[in-house]
Amino acid sequence: MTDRYCVFGHPVGHSKSPAIHAAFAAQTGDDIEYTAIEAPLDDFAGAWRRFLAQGGRGANVTVPFKEDAFRLCDTLSQRARRAGAVNTLILGDEGETRGDTTDGVGLVSDLKRHGVELSGARILVLGAGGAVRGVLEPLLVEGPEGLLVANRTAAKAEALAADFRDLGAIVGGGFDAVEGPYDLVINGTSASLAGDLPPLPDDLFAPGATAHDMMYGAEPTIFLRWADERGVRTVDGLGMLVEQAAESFFQWRGRRPDTAPVLERLRQAL
Ligand code: ATR
Repeated sequence: MTDRYCVFGHPVGHSKSPAIHAAFAAQTGDDIEYTAIEAPLDDFAGAWRRFLAQGGRGANVTVPFKEDAFRLCDTLSQRARRAGAVNTLILGDEGETRGDTTDGVGLVSDLKRHGVELSGARILVLGAGGAVRGVLEPLLVEGPEGLLVANRTAAKAEALAADFRDLGAIVGGGFDAVEGPYDLVINGTSASLAGDLPPLPDDLFAPGATAHDMMYGAEPTIFLRWADERGVRTVDGLGMLVEQAAESFFQWRGRRPDTAPVLERLRQAL
């Protein structure tokens, strides 16, 4: 029987995950089916159970279910426990549900693909919501010189940084704590959606710096336009999307697909 996978979201019609995983499976020759399922807002666990009963082997989880997915797992990877969220559900050999999060490793893989040196880097992360929490551990594991989490609501960034202090030199604060230059600035706020730019100083970037926005679209985000005007390398969130998918695929299938051609095709279709 064909192994079934899906992405759960609400809404989920816009998801690129079915196309990405179909491309991965075509590459590796894996015989899988991958669909998008809109789970009811009040019964994510039921949707997962029904999917398992229909031959489901694993799933990706997107907004707004990553915390619901976290709560229903029988076992969690260390990085998922830290993130407080799960974007990858895996049916284990004993019928148990395992939870993982691949967003952070996806970000790190994409940054490395662009040649960004994380070890010894001065990193600024903007935002302190779930998206940022999900990437802090993999960033800190790379050994940056320091990592500042800066957020509109300073207290949220301070509390978030405190949860990761055992992993490295991380501090949190308001935007007024920003003190460049930084080698890498990651925008993990949803401000771009509203066309807003966090208040940032003109001397934010060190020579050779990189600006990354977790968002993507046909046009660069307002943050990446601002960074581009300052002459630094800009990277949007499309590569992170494909890399996190590849890590999920690896968790399910034990094979690593080649992300480059898949990313190129998605880019052209934006
Ligand atoms: P997600 O799961 O995508 O991280 P979230 O948990 O709602 O979503 O977090 C959104 C983040 O974007 C927060 O850091 C938020 O700042 P606050 O904690 O102060 O709310 C940030 N954000 C949203 N709109 C913003 C804006 N217009 N300017 C600056 N920061 C913004």
